[in-house]
Amino acid sequence: MSIKKIGVVGAGTMGHGIAEVSALANYNVSVVDISWDFLNRAKERIMESLNKFYEKGQIKEKPEDIMKRIEFSTSYDVMRDADFVIEAVPEIIELKRKVFETLDSITPSHTFLASNTSSIPISTIAEVTKRKEKIIGMHFFNPPPIMKLVEIVPSKYTSDETIEVTIDLAKKMNKIPVKLKVEVPGFVSNRIFLRLMQEACREVEDGEATIEEVDSAARNGLKLPMGIFELSDYVGIDVAVDLWNVIVSSGTAQDVKCEMYKRKFEAKELGVKTGKGFYNYPAPGKYRKV
Ligand code: 3HC
Repeated sequence: MSIKKIGVVGAGTMGHGIAEVSALANYNVSVVDISWDFLNRAKERIMESLNKFYEKGQIKEKPEDIMKRIEFSTSYDVMRDADFVIEAVPEIIELKRKVFETLDSITPSHTFLASNTSSIPISTIAEVTKRKEKIIGMHFFNPPPIMKLVEIVPSKYTSDETIEVTIDLAKKMNKIPVKLKVEVPGFVSNRIFLRLMQEACREVEDGEATIEEVDSAARNGLKLPMGIFELSDYVGIDVAVDLWNVIVSSGTAQDVKCEMYKRKFEAKELGVKTGKGFYNYPAPGKYRKV
């Protein structure tokens, strides 16, 4: 099955990056979101990222020519001729199920439907469609144009063909696919991320070290590119809390008492996206190294 057009639902932090890597891999792309505010912001962010690559000589094609392969819309109609659709809407299970119901009714029967969910079981999404065998998890990492890993998450219904097509697509996007053997909440990497957040939070709340000291240890001792709290700000404290809750409530990981994440979430201090989280940033959406 040859993929010519990729659909992306959701133009936020992950969606715009997934659209960019799809266009960079020479696919035509349609991006759908609920408002032109989100779509216009996505256009700007894709241009900024492509310009960085172009100025450094990492891509030869002009950013404006790559952009010509991406169309933006507030209507699902543009998905009618998509061969492979990647959903990247917020981690709300009912919202995701609604999106898949809509995609199932609009896209041709040959179309594969993937979710970029970071923790929700793929089978619970697949069950609302009439093509359960064509539903799969394709979990990108933030920022998608830079991060190499893509977790490939089949459910118990996913066919071998869907797995093969998705792995092949990830490779064409210049990514490194890792396929899960068993569908487990949080997949491989977010389960590790959860443990890092839990221990970092416990250390601070038990008065063993400050946020800055924990992050310095992670960067300079474990050689992580970002500290644990900095990374939480970068992915979004709402996203971090969501994946925490999904994994813990599934009963597959123990919970740890941690008020800091809860307090930040309730105060809507969600990290880079709001300009304030565990650290302060120059403006909402503007990341600056801690
Ligand atoms: N597009 C193009 N270029 C980009 C970019 C983007 N979106 N983001 C960063 N870059 C480039 C910068 O221009 C810079 O290029 P240069 O070295 O040539 O100047 C380079 O990447 C490094 O960026 P910065 O100098 O701004 O800062 P850093 O050196 O700190 O790198 C980072 C930024 C690449 C984000 C790095 O800090 C990093 O890898 N952080 C960890 C990210 C991570 O772990 N992501 C996974 C999160 S978990 C997740 O997403 C799962 C979800 O389900 C929760």
